[in-house]
Amino acid sequence: MAKVKVKFACTECGTESPKWLGKCPGCGAWNTMIEETETVVKAPVGRGELLRTKEKARPIIHIESGREPRVPTGLSELNRVLGGGLVPGSLLLVGGDPGIGKSTLLLQTSHALSAQGLKVLYVSGEESVKQTKLRADRLGALNDRLYVLCETNLETIEESIMEIEPDFLVIDSIQTVYRPEIASAPGSVAQVRECTAHCMRIAKVKGVATVLVGHVTKEGAIAGPRLLEHMVDCVLYFEGERHHSYRILRAVKNRFGSTNEIGIFDMTEDGLREVTNPSELFLSERPLGVSGSTVVASMEGTRPVLVELQALVAPTHFPSPRRMSSGLDHHRMSLVIAVLEKRMGMFLQNQDAYLNVAGGVKLDEPATDLAAAVSLASSFKDAPTRPYDVVFGEVGLTGEVRAVSRAEQRVKEAHKLGFKRVILPEASMKGWQPPAGIELRGVKSVAEALKAALE
Ligand code: TYD
Ligand code: MG
Repeated sequence: MAKVKVKFACTECGTESPKWLGKCPGCGAWNTMIEETETVVKAPVGRGELLRTKEKARPIIHIESGREPRVPTGLSELNRVLGGGLVPGSLLLVGGDPGIGKSTLLLQTSHALSAQGLKVLYVSGEESVKQTKLRADRLGALNDRLYVLCETNLETIEESIMEIEPDFLVIDSIQTVYRPEIASAPGSVAQVRECTAHCMRIAKVKGVATVLVGHVTKEGAIAGPRLLEHMVDCVLYFEGERHHSYRILRAVKNRFGSTNEIGIFDMTEDGLREVTNPSELFLSERPLGVSGSTVVASMEGTRPVLVELQALVAPTHFPSPRRMSSGLDHHRMSLVIAVLEKRMGMFLQNQDAYLNVAGGVKLDEPATDLAAAVSLASSFKDAPTRPYDVVFGEVGLTGEVRAVSRAEQRVKEAHKLGFKRVILPEASMKGWQPPAGIELRGVKSVAEALKAALE
């Protein structure tokens, strides 16, 4: 019989230790080390199989190239994030907070694929077959090529895979499945790792595109998806705020495509709806002609998105003023505030400042600096911005406005949504023509931009 040994492992990064530690030596996280009782299986499962491949090493010039075959999923926002579609034999991880809509997304994807004639196996370890059926009824995801299995034992799941021979497999979630020969509980670092490695082999050997669902956990009692990021081909995160209905699908790793595209969905009564024009959605609740509100054109991957940036500057009641930003990098906000203080002479030291990207989107582009500066100055001076202005540009430490990429696309998006004027870096205006009916106001400094926006 196998030997049982006890050790501790971090649920965030998987670092192991023979004794318990409060702080993980691998990733520095606190309280993430949990006890693992691991059965040491004599013959390491799978390793041998992988070594027994018939392939021989070949000179690289003899290997035929050609693009990875793609299977479009029927959900264009998902295709965009994947870089065209699913790659047969690839392993994908979809992570996200519990309740964000991962099961919904994958059931809809499963249905869309089965509607194209592919065979799909949806394995749920969390919900009963009945619950899954009820959800499918609501989503209208009914098809005789969509198989559902409620099981957590990976061996039994494998038997089903052999029998059904699906083209697409979903395991919802990786934290509920287990391999019986490993003694630790489902969701432990050892189980999650071994099960993922096993799914990888199934995907490669059977050529089936496989999706693993992974819950992001805060308590650290079960292993999180970050542990698996290096093992899989693609990692997608499904994000959103509980109080907003839309969700963003983001790739953080993609062996077959870029990682800067996002997919946007709206959670409705009957499932996720794709949002093909995100700017309209993000601007739908915008108040007009008020102070502290600016519209910024930010690039999300290859697509420009217009979002409202709100600021509130108000006298502080604290010894040191508060600086809060949501949806925007805190460091960039500090930089913009410092520039407004030093270069524009605004006295903000006795003022709290809040910045908020309306709707809960996250922007991480320097091109949002100028809009942040305009919003903050507008709120500070209580001077309303013009409702039909769009602002973008990077702010430098001397108060200069620096060029940003893809100005033309940003301006076109602003034009498409009926905006009348764009305030942008002068240096970004060379080499292209704006569409008729939109005024461009090139600026070289924050001072010029504020003059134009708040006059
Ligand atoms: P779910 O897909 O179960 O989340 P996860 O698998 O990430 O835990 O989605 C759960 C939430 O989505 C739940 O609060 C209800 C909501 N929802 C809708 O609003 N509309 C729908 O059609 C469905 C199926 C779910
Ligand atoms: Mg679920």
